Amino acid sequence: NTSSSTNKFVGAIDQGTSSSRFLIFNAANLDLITYHQETIQILTPNPGWVEQDPNEILEKTILCMDKAVENFEKLGYEKSDIKAIGVTNQRETTILWDRETGKVLHNAIVWLDARTQETVDFLLRQFNTHRDCLQEQCGLPLSTYFSALKIRWLIDNNHQVREAIKEKRCLFGTVDSWLLYNLLSNGENTVHVTDVTNASRTMLMNIRSLKWDPALCEFFGIPEHILPEIKSSATIFGYINDGILQGVPVGAVIGDQQAALVGQQCLDKGTAKSTYGTGCFILYNTGEDLAYSRNGLLTTVAYKWNDDDAVYALEVCICGSIAIAGECIKWLRDNLGLIPDSKSTQTIAASVEDTGGVYFVPAFSGLFAPYWRSDARGLIMGMTQYTTKAHIVRAALEGICYQTREIIDAMYVDSGVRLSKLKVDGGMANNTLFLQMLADIVGINVDTPRLFETTALGAALAAGKAKGIDLFKLNPENEIETGMTSYIPRIQGKQREENFSAWKKAVIKSFDRPT
Ligand code: G3P
Repeated sequence: NTSSSTNKFVGAIDQGTSSSRFLIFNAANLDLITYHQETIQILTPNPGWVEQDPNEILEKTILCMDKAVENFEKLGYEKSDIKAIGVTNQRETTILWDRETGKVLHNAIVWLDARTQETVDFLLRQFNTHRDCLQEQCGLPLSTYFSALKIRWLIDNNHQVREAIKEKRCLFGTVDSWLLYNLLSNGENTVHVTDVTNASRTMLMNIRSLKWDPALCEFFGIPEHILPEIKSSATIFGYINDGILQGVPVGAVIGDQQAALVGQQCLDKGTAKSTYGTGCFILYNTGEDLAYSRNGLLTTVAYKWNDDDAVYALEVCICGSIAIAGECIKWLRDNLGLIPDSKSTQTIAASVEDTGGVYFVPAFSGLFAPYWRSDARGLIMGMTQYTTKAHIVRAALEGICYQTREIIDAMYVDSGVRLSKLKVDGGMANNTLFLQMLADIVGINVDTPRLFETTALGAALAAGKAKGIDLFKLNPENEIETGMTSYIPRIQGKQREENFSAWKKAVIKSFDRPT
């Protein structure tokens, strides 16, 4: 038996766009003991629409918990040694369900979904206003991305939703709320909660008071009674009501990009991480100060531990829908059949020295920050008869690096602080060619951690925090031994700037569509 009464483990539910996972970490050294993962289907019923089945999300999450705990026990541990669970999740994805039956009223509208462009345009016209009109209150620009627009679309387009709202039966939640409602509610007690990081992505929470803002709710025409209670990211949310981990407390809820910031130990003001997963997200810790961007970056809550003050971040998603990083590589694989799997991008791209003048702007459904052009579309340009698939694959990787560079530049302008290094994680952090290209194009050191599971780790760290498991060193002075690998820029500044300005010209072309 590997277990002893002193052993402490923390579990993490990581509910992402592509999959649900449950991971179990050893609190003593943060080693990942075991995990289980299930893929979640992505439904695209119309162009630009992206949905998921909330019941599949829930069932697969529970299956992951069951399987991971079974593995854990097979390894000789006892499930009673799992002292707390943290939840981290894809953010903005919007679920409405019936309070009385627990049944969903519509499929989840996923963060990537761009159907609400008309709703955005309508609100802009109705209030005769501009995209940043709510920035002061919620830190965000009006965009298809955020939950409020998705709720509004559902109210406008779904009769069942309108009825349920009228009869005060409708509940809204991002994926965290949906999971907790199902995992924590019991006969006497309905748990309808979220945390500040997830709430900060709805456009309905006031970024200073950290409460639902009546003026924002009114702007979107969303009744406050459908919204969950907002809590800190680390606090006891409740106890698992059933199943293999019945009775274990959920000690943290934190959006997945914020969790990765914590997992990367970016707990000091002026530190930043970049995750290359389904999308690519860069978060820059601005401490307890709110920084408003003049370059289209988002102001968001990074985390809030128990009763401490909230810590804020500037954030950027350098993608439009189905755009960049994981999805861009998937597109090369599934739609063009250029690569057999994502791993092979490294070998294929490395088979040529450069892109041969090819530029790839992966704006499949528009570009988010710093452009915020939903009308932009993807392009591959500069091809000659000598262009091979290797050049295109290499250009796709470069495109991701250039977009990162644009954001780092904007963060510098907004914060006045230059980053000295970028901490990188997500699937593409395994691609060493990509990491070197990133260092070359951005012109700063790129570091990858020993523990790649930074998102789940962040949730586990936060859950430990709520549970008072002091083995977690959530203190920047006490940085966890992460065993970083560093990639150092190898190209000259002049060359870098020339390449970058050519990329910018390609981006401008992506705004032009033949009509
Ligand atoms: O804002 C959306 C983001 O939270 C999705 O993250 O990891 O599922 O790509 P991921």
